[in-house]
This record gives sequence, C-alpha cells and structure tokens, in this order.
Amino acid sequence: MFKDKLVSYSGVQPSGNLTIGNYLGAIKNFSAYSDKYMCFYCVVDEHAITVRQVPADLRRRTYETLALYIACGLDPEKNTLYVQSHVHEHAELAWILNCFTGFGELSRMTQFKDKSAKHADNVNAGLFTYPTLMASDILLYQTDVVPIGVDQKQHVELTRNIAERFNQLYPDTFTMPEPIIAKSGKKIMSLADPTKKMSKSDENTNAVVYILDDKDTVIRKFKRAVTDSDTCVRFADGKDGINNLMTIYSCFTGKEFDEIEREFEGKGYGDFKLAVGETCADALAPVRAKFDELLKDKAYLEEVMKNGAETASYVARRTLSKVQKKLGFVQIGR
Ligand code: TRP
Repeated sequence: MFKDKLVSYSGVQPSGNLTIGNYLGAIKNFSAYSDKYMCFYCVVDEHAITVRQVPADLRRRTYETLALYIACGLDPEKNTLYVQSHVHEHAELAWILNCFTGFGELSRMTQFKDKSAKHADNVNAGLFTYPTLMASDILLYQTDVVPIGVDQKQHVELTRNIAERFNQLYPDTFTMPEPIIAKSGKKIMSLADPTKKMSKSDENTNAVVYILDDKDTVIRKFKRAVTDSDTCVRFADGKDGINNLMTIYSCFTGKEFDEIEREFEGKGYGDFKLAVGETCADALAPVRAKFDELLKDKAYLEEVMKNGAETASYVARRTLSKVQKKLGFVQIGR
C-alpha cells in the first residue's frame, strides 16, 4: 500500500466564516498532525451544493477556505490540500456506497432532519445522501482517523457501518476509520449565551468571533461578552461566561486557570475582557495578514489545488479501482 504513515482525513465546507472555536478546537492543532499522519484536507464543494449556492460566492469561498487553512499554519508541502470536485472518484464511489446504504439509516441522520427542516423548499436527494458522499471521502483514502466536531460523529459512525458491511461482502476493501473529537475542555461557547456552543451560523454576530475579524471588532465583541453579577475572575460552576473567556485566554496564552486567576486578582471584568480581546486580536492578526496576501495570489492557490488533486487522485484511483474490481465491473486496462 501507499501508506508509510497513518492517514488523517478531514473535509471542510467552503465558507470563509470559520470562528475562533474552529481555530482553537481544531485548525490550530492540525499543523502538528502532519508529523504523525499523512493528512488530507478537502474543501467539499460537492457537499456545499446540497443547499442552493450563488456560483460566484461558492467559487470565492473555495479559494478563501483554502487560503484560510494555509494561513492558519497548514503547509501545503506537508499536507494534501485539495478541492473535492477536482477528484472525480469521490462522486463515483459515493454512487456505489449509495447502493450499500439503507434508506432507514439515512433517514435517521440528525443533520438531514435539521437541514431538511431549515431548507423545507429544497429537500433534495443530495441532502439525503450527503453522508454517503462523506463516507466516500473518508474511505477512498483508507483513512485511519477523522478529526471532526461532535456534530459529525454520527456521519463517521455511518461510514464505519458502511465500511464494515462492504468488507463483510468483499473482504479487505476499506480501512476502518476512527473519529477524533476535540476534547470538550477546548469547546468554545457563544459570547452572547455561554451555555451554547459558538456557531459560525449564529444570527447574532456579537456572539461569534471570526478568525478574520479585525482588531477593533474582536475587542468590541469581547467587551460585550455576557458574564455574571460577580466581580471576581475565577473558574467556577455557574460562571459560564467567565469560564468561557478563561478558556479562550488559556488557549491563546498557554496559561493555566490558577495563573489567570492570580493575574487578574483585584481587577474587574472590564480589564479581563479587554485583555482577552487584545490577546485574541494579536494572535489572529498574522493569520489575517497571511490570508490577505494569499488571496492576492490566485495562481499560487491554484497551484496548491492542482498539486493536491494530483496526490489525492493517485490514492483515490487505487481504492476505486479495487472496489470496482471486487464488484464485478469489467476492467479494461485504463
Ligand atoms: N460534513 C462535514 C461538515 O459539515 C464536512 C465533511 C465532508 C467531512 N466530508 C468529510 C469531514 C470527511 C470529515 C471527513 O463539517
């Protein structure tokens, strides 16, 4: 096999709006992954069209998402960064996997239920079979681990069920993937309602800090963060707002909670919020600068996409042709 390292695979929707929750909980840690794993990061434009897209926006966001991943520290020399529609094997294997997936299994997916309620005027078959395309993404690369948010866990479990079913009928086809879910300790909550996860699609933009927010915006959002009527900066039950700010501050500075408590002893929430805001803005500034620079260089981004698609195709082609052979499709020495 092609593998001398374990394979890590992750897909990301082409939306430029990643939050500091995505950054601290996932992306920031990804750059270290490439030491241990052969890493694939795919911008999933085919998944994106399960809901209506404005073509110019989809195109722009595809570039932006790739640029943001690179700006966050993913080195295209050490990771395979590519766009899903550039590797036709994804759609082909998805069709095959559709024939090994139950209608009932797909009906039970909570994301399908949520999205079909939200887009009631367009409950299309692609929305329904979204998870088999995701299974195809993962299984094409003989993936060992899938770093995801907890909301995608059900889809990885379905992927495992499909792989197991297929392997039982046709032994030794797919590697069994394991989900890796960022520890809850790193879970970043909404600034407006700290009992809720920070979500990029929150309608209240004050609740969410985006990686690409400018310094003033970041500071303003932290100033408005909901806290409590106590005045002491300490980590405790019932202080969800402060706990969240302490978590964010700790993630950016590497300081432990007791250290942070000492640092802000005798100071009010105002001082603390300002410190968190400034620290966060300063940490994000180089990411934003790099992002702006990359976006000016479309030719470079296209080069990355092209190289990524080449590496990905090489692996994907091997898995797909193995599957086709096992199924009894005639091979004519393509
Ligand atoms: N469904 C994932 C999401 O919405 C994105 C995704 C597509 C993905 N294919 C994947 C994630 C494969 C991990 C592995 O976040």
